[in-house]
Amino acid sequence: MIIRKFNPNDLKRVFEIENMSFDQSYGIKMFQQLYEMGIGFLVAEHEGHVIGYVMFWIKYEFNGHIISIAVDENYRRLGAGTKLLVKAISILSMLNIDNIYLEVNEHNDGAIEFYRRFNFQIDRTVPNYYASGDGAVIMYLPLRKGHISSN
Ligand SMILES: CC(C)(COP(=O)(O)OP(=O)(O)OC[C@H]1O[C@@H](n2cnc3c(N)ncnc32)[C@H](O)[C@@H]1OP(=O)(O)O)[C@@H](O)C(=O)NCCC(=O)NCCS
Repeated sequence: MIIRKFNPNDLKRVFEIENMSFDQSYGIKMFQQLYEMGIGFLVAEHEGHVIGYVMFWIKYEFNGHIISIAVDENYRRLGAGTKLLVKAISILSMLNIDNIYLEVNEHNDGAIEFYRRFNFQIDRTVPNYYASGDGAVIMYLPLRKGHISSN
């Protein structure tokens, strides 16, 4: 398995993985636009086949933000998510930021457990964050001394 930069040929496949992974989609156009904006965008490739992706950026100067991460449901629990997140964290860590934060559905116990493995901590829950009415748990990984400001 390799982790490499996203390129536009991966767009359809990444969208497919996002669709199978979330109730609410960013939409293929949003992926294209985020890529054109120059966000961090990596894919995991296994035997020539894209099986996962991660998108991240820096928000409000001092905060790394994981926008989205997902692995094809047929390839989960094989370490692809870990490889993607490790790479994203290592890129963000090289920049002068205080922490990395993300939002995760309050009912997504698997993902919350996944992030805990990286020492992400729970900051708070934002009620009604998603269109479904579900709340979002805000999690953060402190990288150096600084305040947390995820909104
Ligand atoms: C979260 C996600 C990206 C993890 O990807 P993955 O490739 O399956 O993760 P890994 O194989 O690297 O898992 C590493 C560890 O995280 C934990 N973990 C991962 N998925 C888990 C789950 N569903 N339940 C409990 N623990 C889980 C385990 O400790 C796992 O180690 P183990 O398999 O040795 O027990 C994947 O489940 C996914 O795409 N989910 C749907 C989309 C999503 O929820 N994204 C994050 C929301 S913001």
